[in-house]
Amino acid sequence: MSDLNQEVLDKLTKVCICKAIPRSTIKRVISEGAASLEKVQKATGAGSGPCGGRRCTPKILELLEASNKDK
Ligand code: FES
Repeated sequence: MSDLNQEVLDKLTKVCICKAIPRSTIKRVISEGAASLEKVQKATGAGSGPCGGRRCTPKILELLEASNKDK
């Protein structure tokens, strides 16, 4: 997939549904140094919605893991 398509998809795909936080935002804070679940949650507000992070936590962990593999 081209970088542009990936970028568009990242903007459209919500990681935290409760707070409507797109994958692009999660990726950005990870690239800016948020290296743990807690830091990503603090920087974005993900995990503070009505589901208490039940739906978004696994997805955030996946993105953190993927970013570790890139290094
Ligand atoms: S989906 Fe993130 S707090 Fe509910």
